Amino acid sequence: MIKNKHILIGVSGSIAAYKIPLLVRLLKKSGAEVKVVLTPSAKDFVTPVTLSTLSENPVYSDFVLNDEGEWSNHVDLALWADLILIAPASANTLAKMEQGICDNLLLAIYLSAKSPIAIAPAMDLDMYKHETTQQHLKKLSHRGHLIIPVNSGFLASGLEGEGRMAEPQEIYHFIESYFSENLPFNGLKALVTAGPTHEAIDPVRFIGNHSSGKMGIALAIALSEKGAEVTLVKGPMALDVYQLNHDYNINVIDVVSSDEMFIEVIKYWETSDIAIMAAAVADYKPKNIAQEKIKKLETDFTLALVKTKDILKSMGETKKLNQYLVGFALETENELANAKSKLNRKNLDAIVLNSMKDEGAGFGFDTNKVTIINKDTTKVNLPLLTKSETAKEIVNYISQQFFKK
Ligand SMILES: Cc1cc2nc3c(=O)[nH]c(=O)nc-3n(C[C@H](O)[C@H](O)[C@H](O)COP(=O)(O)O)c2cc1C
Repeated sequence: MIKNKHILIGVSGSIAAYKIPLLVRLLKKSGAEVKVVLTPSAKDFVTPVTLSTLSENPVYSDFVLNDEGEWSNHVDLALWADLILIAPASANTLAKMEQGICDNLLLAIYLSAKSPIAIAPAMDLDMYKHETTQQHLKKLSHRGHLIIPVNSGFLASGLEGEGRMAEPQEIYHFIESYFSENLPFNGLKALVTAGPTHEAIDPVRFIGNHSSGKMGIALAIALSEKGAEVTLVKGPMALDVYQLNHDYNINVIDVVSSDEMFIEVIKYWETSDIAIMAAAVADYKPKNIAQEKIKKLETDFTLALVKTKDILKSMGETKKLNQYLVGFALETENELANAKSKLNRKNLDAIVLNSMKDEGAGFGFDTNKVTIINKDTTKVNLPLLTKSETAKEIVNYISQQFFKK
């Protein structure tokens, strides 16, 4: 959920600043983009070199960068952030935030912010308990800012009590749950299919196709990033899907044939809210599977084929009012007409059309160029994009349409 999120950490002058490098590392490990801003006083507690190395970005502190008048654009920095975290937040910085005082870069960024603000206070026991500090925290909380609770325990002053900044892991989990709770597909279940199917001819041969599974995997990730609980039913493919389980918590089901895909898809479809069927399922399979390897003959050989089960059609037939079903069409001629006809025949909510005629689009490529056609026949033409960007656009489109249903 944190992957690719832009997190700006504002560090103020507290001994707890020593915990920030560890937090930056945790966030970076999860794929977040991190920028750090230090108040002038914070530089006494943690070095810019440590933080710029770990965040892989310059560390900002001053309005003006050099004698040539180059300056840090506080507005750009504020707008860059998906979340601004002030940690540690000193009593001084809290008071200035509450009052709208703007005598350093961090405070200017705060006043320019459009993103949510999270605050992790860090103070000595008496400073934290002080009436003014408590009033400032209350007012900042009423302003809609998120206050990360302090811990109780041993304090740098030697005192014991409330005021310890939350540990890096606790702040990390706070941020993680913040992003997952605010995602549009939270609490929804999504089903995606990807890759080809292999229809066995004999123990060593099969009928397959060139689908790489890249588009389906990108869709599963895009849905997961929007908060959906995703099941991916995938045919045989060479792609490494380790990250799907590990980074995205996607439930990956491996199948080989169209019959196996049918069984798994129908099982999960019943409880799914959204389904995107991106797999290239075989239309025909051998009528009989030879038990032994078929021997080479001197004569020609004819293989009898029968139709496979139409997975998409079965889903369309059982679709409930609140379910949203998207199909894919890969066409080589009469693309629009064929895709619209498939959309109607299979009772889909939308269909994504790939044309084999577009350069860089279709099987195996890392890019794709698709048209999304809605059941009301309106369409959205997307430009040539990476499959990951295409997937995000498709999922954004679905999120607009799904909540209209
Ligand atoms: C060793 C040391 C530790 C400090 N720890 C804290 C602290 O945990 N919380 C706090 O509010 N102020 C603390 N201060 C005081 C702040 O550094 C001081 O108020 C400073 O002006 C804060 O500036 P800033 O908010 O612009 O970063 C500490 C000062 C020193 C010298």
